[in-house]
Amino acid sequence: CRVRQYTFNVVLKNTNRLCASKPIVTVNGRFPGPTLYVREDDTVLVRVVNHVKYNVSIHWHGIRQLRTGWSDGPAYITQCPIQTGQSYLYNFTVTGQRGTLLWHAHVLWLRATVHGAIVILPKRGVPYPFPKPHKEVVVILGEWWKSDVEAVINQALSSGLAPNVSDAHTINGHPGPVSNCPSQGGFSLQVEAGKTYLLRIINAALNEELFFKIAGHQLSVVEVDAVYTKPFKIDTLVIAPGQTTNALITADQSSGKYLMAASPFMDSPIAVDNLTATATLHYSGTLASSPTSLTSPPPPNATAVANKFVNSLRSLNSKKYPAKVPLTVDHSLFITVGLGINPCATCVAGNGSRAVASMNNVTFVMPTTAILQAHYFNISGVYTTDFPANPPVAFNYTGSPANLQTTNGTKVYRVPYNSTVQVVLQDTGIIATENHPVHLHGFNFFAVGKGLGNYNPKTDPQNFNLIDPVERNTIGVPSGGWTAIRFLADNPGVWFMHCHLEVHTTWGLKMAFLVDNGKGPNQSIIPPPSDLPKC
Ligand code: C2O
Repeated sequence: CRVRQYTFNVVLKNTNRLCASKPIVTVNGRFPGPTLYVREDDTVLVRVVNHVKYNVSIHWHGIRQLRTGWSDGPAYITQCPIQTGQSYLYNFTVTGQRGTLLWHAHVLWLRATVHGAIVILPKRGVPYPFPKPHKEVVVILGEWWKSDVEAVINQALSSGLAPNVSDAHTINGHPGPVSNCPSQGGFSLQVEAGKTYLLRIINAALNEELFFKIAGHQLSVVEVDAVYTKPFKIDTLVIAPGQTTNALITADQSSGKYLMAASPFMDSPIAVDNLTATATLHYSGTLASSPTSLTSPPPPNATAVANKFVNSLRSLNSKKYPAKVPLTVDHSLFITVGLGINPCATCVAGNGSRAVASMNNVTFVMPTTAILQAHYFNISGVYTTDFPANPPVAFNYTGSPANLQTTNGTKVYRVPYNSTVQVVLQDTGIIATENHPVHLHGFNFFAVGKGLGNYNPKTDPQNFNLIDPVERNTIGVPSGGWTAIRFLADNPGVWFMHCHLEVHTTWGLKMAFLVDNGKGPNQSIIPPPSDLPKC
């Protein structure tokens, strides 16, 4: 293993999309940002230098960060953000992971344009558990706003209303030709007939779960969230913000051009957004002028298409890559996730109310000092440890909505080192029918069960898959249903858990786990680096 060094200069860059140019916040002037290439067991050093007027922090989404919470990145959770003109060295080791992840800004809405791929190759000499592809290609799905993204969310917060939806979806930074800008090109993937390619697909969109498909070609899924899966073939993937999927595609046609499409799944009825991003798969030797074989994206409410994909996911669970599912549970939490409305005296457009979101009716309030620092240095008054293991009123999906109004707090849930945790995430579905892709920092978890309606603690666990459930870091809590996850709390520190739809995070759909140090060697948080930013 070796040390990989990168420098991320956070700079403004004029960028042209949808036939208009605007300055956006980027890493090294690129959108999407540079790919981090590492191997399992490598140490990664990334110096992030902030040259913009916003505070910045970068999260290495899905990297375990064993004992290195100082490098995890969520602003005010594990670090204070890097202020204008300052820099910070992220320093972590990639342990026991291989596949595709993403890095992204983790402060304000900067993630919209500040994101990129993390490619983790297996250790040298260790093959993939699937046929070696001819080439590997990163495919990043995203969103584009014509106006300044920070202005979009600030306006929403002051009015109390939902923010404007994006003006386009993107594939590797490009929407492809659209009606109000037909001349713009899109991403083109060049292939040779008969060869197999590994697509490393990432959803870096802020607020949109997306379908992804390619005309005339099947996708063979081999990995999600940097964990190998049992391979399966499918036409259409569904991928939530923060999730990654590796899929093999064989160029089994002889020639031609084929459309690639990314389109929204389960749009909120409040903010309808049907835009499809397109790109092309282009066989070498095919004339540029030849027609493109089209594909029709699934409609936004194509739940059956999404379920087909989600229900096919299983851990590889081979001898070499066993699924280490916790079989017993030390801490059992039942957490409602949903949207609500709180009073707001200044929200004129919102008629005196504002949209909020919560977990167990707690709307998380960002502290002004990082919680990990407060924990490590014993600073009091920053957070409390009373995050409730259950909602204040027993949730009943068919009953009257009990959790429209929420209380504010910076509450964490404390667990001892190496305890096992089960969390059942129950969608309340009261205001909007949307999946909530919930992301846990610092751990992978096993998605042991899911269902529709109310979770039943007596009967539902009997159907849990404790053999080969998919292992990942971000899971869609189904609209009007629940999902159950289990993880081993083997990573001391403070670990954020939140909805990866940025608008819901902003509204407060977030909490954190505090995992205490253990007693043995290598069971404690490492000391903070000397350049750790100050608040
Ligand atoms: Cu990818 Cu806390 O986020």
